Amino acid sequence: MITSKHLSADELREKFLNFFESRGHKILPSSSLLPENDPSVLFTTAGMQQFKRFYLFPEEAPSVRIATCQKCVRTGDIDEVGDQTHLTFFEMLGNFSFGYPREKGSYFKKEAIEWAWEFLTKELEIDKSRIYATYFKDDAKEVPEDKESLAILQQVEGLDDIRPQGFGDNFWSLGTEGSPGGPTVEFYVDGVEVWNLVFNEFVLKNGTYEPSELKGIDTGMGLERLTAMMQGKSDVFQTDLFDAIISKIEEISGKKYDENQKEFRIIADHIRSAAAMIADGVLPSNKDQGYVLRRLIRRAIVQGRRIGLYDNFTDQLTDNDLVRTETSKEELKFRTTLEKGMRQFDIISGMTVRKNDEHWSKYEIDANQLFDLYQTYGMPIEVTAEIALEKDIPIKEGAIGLFEVMKKNHQQKSRTASSGMFKGGLADNKVETTRLHTAAHLLLAALRDLLSEDIEQKGSNITEERLRFDFNYPSKLTDEQIKEIEDLVNQKISEALPIKMQEMSLDEAKTSGATGSFHDRYGDKVKIFTIGKEGEQPFSREICGGPHVENISQLGQFKIIKEESSSAGVRRIKAILQ
Ligand code: ALA
Repeated sequence: MITSKHLSADELREKFLNFFESRGHKILPSSSLLPENDPSVLFTTAGMQQFKRFYLFPEEAPSVRIATCQKCVRTGDIDEVGDQTHLTFFEMLGNFSFGYPREKGSYFKKEAIEWAWEFLTKELEIDKSRIYATYFKDDAKEVPEDKESLAILQQVEGLDDIRPQGFGDNFWSLGTEGSPGGPTVEFYVDGVEVWNLVFNEFVLKNGTYEPSELKGIDTGMGLERLTAMMQGKSDVFQTDLFDAIISKIEEISGKKYDENQKEFRIIADHIRSAAAMIADGVLPSNKDQGYVLRRLIRRAIVQGRRIGLYDNFTDQLTDNDLVRTETSKEELKFRTTLEKGMRQFDIISGMTVRKNDEHWSKYEIDANQLFDLYQTYGMPIEVTAEIALEKDIPIKEGAIGLFEVMKKNHQQKSRTASSGMFKGGLADNKVETTRLHTAAHLLLAALRDLLSEDIEQKGSNITEERLRFDFNYPSKLTDEQIKEIEDLVNQKISEALPIKMQEMSLDEAKTSGATGSFHDRYGDKVKIFTIGKEGEQPFSREICGGPHVENISQLGQFKIIKEESSSAGVRRIKAILQ
């Protein structure tokens, strides 16, 4: 047993806030899930967010000691929801201090560490031998080892296990320009991280962490995980926080949680998250927070189908009238979409069957049909895939990958439509155009490989029929050179090299050796497309906004159809894919 104490989530919240109140902290309410005056994020993701300014301007804080229980939404791990611990909505318990050492009453590492230990071992009576602490040490980083925390931890009575961890684990910051950050101490119970103490002694300026004059404390402890621990559960969905919603899903579906854990967890988490968003004023829509909300509700409905919930159910999972109204409206809309999509699915699959009736293995749905179901009927791909499975109609191999390319292209088109320009000088977003665009990357790499490393792209224009590519080179290419270029590109295509996309700062991109022209047009963050085998020197590495095929084996045969002069010192190649 971790502890002999058993506490409800409400009791834990109260215990935490009382503990810090009696140590001079002002207790403040959670801020909204929609951060005020902070366009850098869609949702509140941490307790410190509403206090960000106070680390730099402590004189503006209502108190230099504050404690809260903050509602948070993090959607980065949305695909992990369904296991024992991942959630998109959670509550974070935290204590904060600002302006150390200047402000009277402010505190730093010693108090933060000692109080955390006291709370865990005395208030919650957690068995000391099951706790270990980590502190920051990373020789590869310019930030020095946090020896101060190590020394404090070594003085803590009963704490026998102290471990160093690197930047990835034990350094925390919101990551946006001007935000505070610093090394952390983390407390783990039975190997599970429960409490993160952040020592804000740096400020992120121009991409580097500079020491800050005033220091601050920011801690965060996930309420759901802590509750699970205090109730002897390894599964957050089996705590009292989820009792009501899980029982309700059991009641309306007639199914048992134990036998359908993944579906129950996704529905419970997503609807709980959706309810919190709606309560804070978000409405389903096609952009920003509204789009996240829409996806959560729709994903819950899709999971509902898997446990036999074919009619509206989301309104039964909450008591809040506004939430009920909004989720119901969205559900109704989505079910109409689903119904139309299902009818269209039947038509398509009927056609597929007739068209190929001499051979069973050819009864397949292709990417164009998937895209039509998505685009015209609003059917999410996972729903189509599920229905196909139910009806025993196979989806053509590779069709889902191709569908994703089509969808990405379409999204890019909607985004760039207003500027009248397509990414990468493309004329449109057709699959053919995308393939030629990827081929242009191979062409540039081949030119640099075979002719000169100084070659740069001087312009390009790509339609669904052909690519046109301009580059600096002093003389006309010979027939042999043209043949060599074609052969090298085709050899790379036949090697089926994967394409990888990474986002990084322009500086990082330059140091990584990426090529790219039109530098002044790129934003702060750039996308790098790498074509090459994992672990080997890449064949091509370019700064580019996309879109691209996923694997270059999808390109076919590359052929140069024309080589001519474009202007002084600039050659022009026209090429096609056969
Ligand atoms: N802000 C810190 C976190 O989110 C405590 O983990």
